[in-house]
Amino acid sequence: MSTVSALPFLKSSLLMRPPMGSTSPRRGRRHTLPASEFRCLSPEDAISVFEIEREAFISVSGECPLHLDEVCHFLTLCPELSLGWFEEGRLVAFIIGSLWDQEKLAMDALTLHKPHGSTVHLHVLAVHRTFRQQGKGSILMWRYLQYLRCLPYVRCAVLMCEDFLVPFYQKSGFKVQGPSDITVGPLTFIEMMYPVRGHAYMRRNSGV
Ligand SMILES: CC(C)(COP(=O)(O)OP(=O)(O)OC[C@H]1O[C@@H](n2cnc3c(N)ncnc32)[C@H](O)[C@@H]1OP(=O)(O)O)[C@@H](O)C(=O)NCCC(=O)NCCS
Repeated sequence: MSTVSALPFLKSSLLMRPPMGSTSPRRGRRHTLPASEFRCLSPEDAISVFEIEREAFISVSGECPLHLDEVCHFLTLCPELSLGWFEEGRLVAFIIGSLWDQEKLAMDALTLHKPHGSTVHLHVLAVHRTFRQQGKGSILMWRYLQYLRCLPYVRCAVLMCEDFLVPFYQKSGFKVQGPSDITVGPLTFIEMMYPVRGHAYMRRNSGV
């Protein structure tokens, strides 16, 4: 995915340009970073991703959804299933996904990308600490789900989360599927699903 426009939620960098002619040609054009930008991540963003994960998860529980090598792995294999929110060039929130090819998530889903799958497994959504509780997590998820609709091979999105985050994902349209088969140490999870495509897609692709 190329850069996704930040509008309508945010001021476009275009709107923030100085009036025409206010920059002296002698001083040359000023290169300013866009106020807000949504784009897919690349392996070069892995360190910024991991910094946010370190604060959000490792400092809390000692664990995190994706370790640095796994972040690099998925951003190399399927960068088009990630989305980052940048403010003046700085990563403030991100989602990383990969493809999965079964009804339910299994342990392998934590490390594998199945290129022929039609389910997007959302490994992680995280917002930088100083930008939380401002609606950014919900907005980023909304944009991501809209974007998935443009990918013809995607049927649904799934994730697993701890109990306390179920209401947050329900607000984004995810439905509870039941307890996940996956456990990480003492942690248990609820599996949730968002139907990106409805029954028409299933009929078209079922071969019936
Ligand atoms: C969870 C997270 C992504 C939400 O993003 P956010 O931008 O802070 O959330 P928004 O401002 O869009 O929405 C706020 C809502 O999120 C929910 N929420 C956020 N953090 C929560 C938490 N720790 N416990 C319970 N609910 C939470 C609440 O429903 C809240 O609504 P309220 O303000 O009415 O209470 C963000 O807090 C975060 O990065 N947390 C650390 C990493 C994490 O837990 N990621 C999810 C698992 S992969």
